Amino acid sequence: MSDAPALFQPLKLRDVTLKNRVGVSPMCQYSSRDGFADDWHLVHLGQFALGGAGLVMTEATAVLPEGRISPQDLGIWSDAHVAELRRITGFIRAHGAVAGIQLAHAGRKASTYRPWAEEHGRVPPDEGGWEEVWAPSALPFAEDYPRPRALDEAGLERVRTGFREATVRARDAGFRMVELHAAHGYLLHEFLSPLSNRREDRYGGSFENRVRLLLEVVDAVRYAWPDELPILVRISATDWAEGGWDADQSVELARLLEERDVDLVDCSSGGLVPGVTIATGPGYQVPFSWRIRKEAGIPTASVGMITEPKQAEAIVAEKKADLVFLAREHLRHPHWTLQAAHELGAEVAWPPQYARAKRRHARAKRRR
Ligand SMILES: Cc1cc2nc3c(=O)[nH]c(=O)nc-3n(C[C@H](O)[C@H](O)[C@H](O)COP(=O)(O)O)c2cc1C
Repeated sequence: MSDAPALFQPLKLRDVTLKNRVGVSPMCQYSSRDGFADDWHLVHLGQFALGGAGLVMTEATAVLPEGRISPQDLGIWSDAHVAELRRITGFIRAHGAVAGIQLAHAGRKASTYRPWAEEHGRVPPDEGGWEEVWAPSALPFAEDYPRPRALDEAGLERVRTGFREATVRARDAGFRMVELHAAHGYLLHEFLSPLSNRREDRYGGSFENRVRLLLEVVDAVRYAWPDELPILVRISATDWAEGGWDADQSVELARLLEERDVDLVDCSSGGLVPGVTIATGPGYQVPFSWRIRKEAGIPTASVGMITEPKQAEAIVAEKKADLVFLAREHLRHPHWTLQAAHELGAEVAWPPQYARAKRRHARAKRRR
């Protein structure tokens, strides 16, 4: 352990070592055709590797075509998607970062317009949407959203197989971490929460039943993913809604994930039901990662309004999370990590092409 700030200590998960504790949080770009990555994704994700982040995570990447949030989502449901993704992971690796992929199925929030479209809610089939949207139960997210159909046994098998095959493709594409998206009201989260899961079979009702699909997906992914590479799971630690999923259940779930060799729980919140009140503010989701880390004994990540280097440093130094994910701040400042290193007095390598712009630390200046 060097005397570098906590944010700049490496993090080892299985055989993968992140050079620091900064992750680029998954951010949908809604810029794909038929699920394919292109130059946009290369430049968008590549810039964060140049900017010094230890982990660069793709946006939610659909394991099945009907699991896309919008028709423009990134996907990995076919072998044809792999080549372009491999180009991106190659660039990220060449610049010292680890490439991760968030695997996702949007469940009842699928087939909707991307955020900057003029329309909202359900995309009709003649505009690229799809007829059937799937969920644990036939309950729409909101009035203008598609009415989903409840997944039957064959549908559940399609989901498990979708995640497993996507994992094999992710490996072929050169990713070194996978994150399962079980947050923000998408399919796996919908199964967890009693507000969206009203099933009466072995996938609904009790806590054990509601977590079953996620655990089966974890097993399918672990089977397909090399032993030496880590698996992350992003959860919404609470629905912020009466009668919904909450922090106590998240701790219980994290214990089960830890037993199943998941390497880190990424703690977000919300997204399951519209119209809830969330008391946001700097680091507002840190208490969840802190509690889960302490009580479930599993490494965690925190995300949400983490913007300042000293704030990020404190979260890691005080052991409230092992890793911090920054989303919007990375869009504002793609080179955030290089600047944070300067502010915290950590010595980090800059891309040699940018070396003339590197500011020296106060200490180094004095020595000159
Ligand atoms: C443009 C945009 C797209 C997002 N897409 C995803 C996504 O694909 N998967 C996900 O888990 N979260 C997604 N999020 C949520 C972020 O990963 C993050 O959890 C949230 O923005 C809070 O972090 P921040 O305050 O650092 O932005 C997205 C956020 C933004 C701003």
